[in-house]
Amino acid sequence: MKKYIIAIDQGTTSTRAICFDQNQNVIRIVQEEIQNVFPQPGWVEQDAQSIWLSTLSCISQLFAPGDLKPEEVASIGITNQRETTVVWNKKTGMPVHRAIVWQSRQTADIVERFKKQGLEEKIHEKTGLVLDPYFSATKIRWILEECSIEDPEDLLFGTVDTWLVWKMTNGKVHVTDVTNASRTLLMNIHTLDWDPELLAWFGVPSNMLPMIVDTSGVVGYVDPVYFFNTPCPIACLVGDQQSALFGQSCFQKGEGKNTYGTGGFLLMNTGNQPILSKQGLLSTVAWKIQDQIAYALEGSIFVSGSLIQWLRDGLKFFKSAKDSEQLATDVDSCNGVMIVPAFTGLGAPYWDDQCRGAIFGLTRGTDIRHLTRAALESMAYQSKDLIQIMEEDLNQKIEYLKVDGGASSNRFLNQFQSDILEIPVYKNEMLEMTALGAARLAGLAVDFFTMNDFKDGETEQFLPSRDHESVEKLYAQWKKAVAATRMY
Ligand code: G3P
Repeated sequence: MKKYIIAIDQGTTSTRAICFDQNQNVIRIVQEEIQNVFPQPGWVEQDAQSIWLSTLSCISQLFAPGDLKPEEVASIGITNQRETTVVWNKKTGMPVHRAIVWQSRQTADIVERFKKQGLEEKIHEKTGLVLDPYFSATKIRWILEECSIEDPEDLLFGTVDTWLVWKMTNGKVHVTDVTNASRTLLMNIHTLDWDPELLAWFGVPSNMLPMIVDTSGVVGYVDPVYFFNTPCPIACLVGDQQSALFGQSCFQKGEGKNTYGTGGFLLMNTGNQPILSKQGLLSTVAWKIQDQIAYALEGSIFVSGSLIQWLRDGLKFFKSAKDSEQLATDVDSCNGVMIVPAFTGLGAPYWDDQCRGAIFGLTRGTDIRHLTRAALESMAYQSKDLIQIMEEDLNQKIEYLKVDGGASSNRFLNQFQSDILEIPVYKNEMLEMTALGAARLAGLAVDFFTMNDFKDGETEQFLPSRDHESVEKLYAQWKKAVAATRMY
């Protein structure tokens, strides 16, 4: 009798394994931190081998207490940080370079090269994306150009889902799903296949690429060596932001969510057709389940929750991210302080890979409370930038915002977000939306769940509480700070 689904949530700062039961309740969570390395300003890399070992370790810790039985697991779903690029040798199983993380700007020069060839518009039409170091294609190109490679024909490429499945199946399965493939700049979002012209432009050999599969469906079995001698099906691969959209039950056109993770990601379901943005939002695949395809319009912010992590670990302002809420509410305002967290440039809607972070309005009276509050407020301002252009692209008013991700447990942030957007913000009691999406999709594939099982849970509501004039004034100040940051 199958009782559980396991979701592996491999994110930018941690790997987690989460066990869900038939009622979609979380039974257990284990987590291991992932180390990011910063070899040069604006570069971000991770050890791909450690990503795999942390996954293995989380799976074994999940079963360590002995009360969950591996044979009771119906399937595993993998959801992952997207765009992060791993290239490895299929004979040795060893990566040829550290994983280049989605946030990394190390391919800015390569991007410039392609921009000079005048390919931007065509790439946007084919992929729904913008030409930016964020996506995988120029990261693959960088590895091919910068690493000394002896046997190029033995190379395989994968985003983190692909890398983990290849490892879990002991090199038997080399696949990615449409949501992850739609973040590479190599898949055509209209045909849902690798695009020969894009491969030629970016100089990526097709034999490196994984096969593209559905978001929900069995792709292979975990090698029993890694799963207590039990062959467990891997039944979902899905990019983490699309997974949260599914977890938040945004199944209908016009339904969306905002996740405050390492970065911030606002996704809106646009139905079975991609909508090409005129102002720097991305068109992406939300999921494909057999013949059902859903697309989304996405606004991507590079630094959101990781700003709080920087205050905690870099500046040692507090011990736990939770403390940021108390500090922020200990003062009535930021006293004019504004933080623009462009640590790795700015994503949507600015797409500026050259600018770097800035703090404005410091006075002798500024202390960690004002800076912490300004950090949280910057997360809300960045989301407002996205909401505004999303409304223009969709030609429709967004009436409310569903939020999730680590920082959404910060009630000050949720209230300020509602104030600055002047719409209600809904925070679901379920904290693990990203993992829930993958668990649902993995459960669907093995008939553990049906779509009828997926309902919205209880939500806490945050309502706008500021007058329009003061909101306008604050937002104008933010816009001024962004413009000054980009000038520096
Ligand atoms: O596109 C990058 C995104 O997938 C990273 O997500 O949760 O690690 O911030 P997260």
